[in-house]
Amino acid sequence: PIKPRKDLSHAANFLYMLEGEEPTALISRVFDVALILHSEHSMNASTFSARVTGSTLADPYAVVASAIGALAGPLHGGANERVLAMLRTIPDPSTEGVRRWAEDRLARKDKIMGFGHAIYSESDPRNTIIKKWSEKLATEVGDTTLYPVSVRCEEIMWREKKLFCNADFFHASAYHFMGIPTKLFTPIFVMSRLTGWAAHVKEQR
Ligand code: COA
Repeated sequence: PIKPRKDLSHAANFLYMLEGEEPTALISRVFDVALILHSEHSMNASTFSARVTGSTLADPYAVVASAIGALAGPLHGGANERVLAMLRTIPDPSTEGVRRWAEDRLARKDKIMGFGHAIYSESDPRNTIIKKWSEKLATEVGDTTLYPVSVRCEEIMWREKKLFCNADFFHASAYHFMGIPTKLFTPIFVMSRLTGWAAHVKEQR
């Protein structure tokens, strides 16, 4: 294990301890933004689970364990990992290719991961923020495929299906550009949402 450094921010320290290298200022900033965006989001599925378990006066570890169970599902926090895997299955990255891919997927009744929301109906305000940072990271790492394909996907899904990106969609490319392994995307979501779960249970009690 790499020891934390006193001179780094919380976000920069996490990335430093992950890789053993100090992250760039941009990467630290984006990771900090990602942690803030995920920290609390009202009464979603995992928070509801936390509240149910908390209402029985179960200990905080049991509260968090049940919340993690709900968050891990692909329709909730497990979506961010699947976004990246899904985007890699697009055979033709052109606008027409992405449109055909989306049509095929929807015809098979497969969900497009990172799109739609149970409460929002036209847009997810968190998407506007993380999309901007994902674009900056794409420029920093010299990406010419993942970010443009993501944007094409967003445009086509809105134009043809009126489905919009939720917070998970551009987090996938942003984390990827930061060099974070895909298997950590959902655990990082947990790490941040812990704040919200704890606050909810405290309020309830
Ligand atoms: N891909 C394909 N179709 C989708 C979709 C998606 N990502 N999101 C919604 N739809 C479809 C639904 O299947 C439904 O179709 P139907 O009327 O033919 O049954 C229609 O759009 C309306 O869905 P809606 O009621 O608005 O959403 P919901 O409350 O049922 O589901 C989610 C909300 C988040 C579970 C859903 O959008 C989803 O599965 N998204 C993908 C997973 C994801 O990104 N999760 C992270 C959420 S922050």
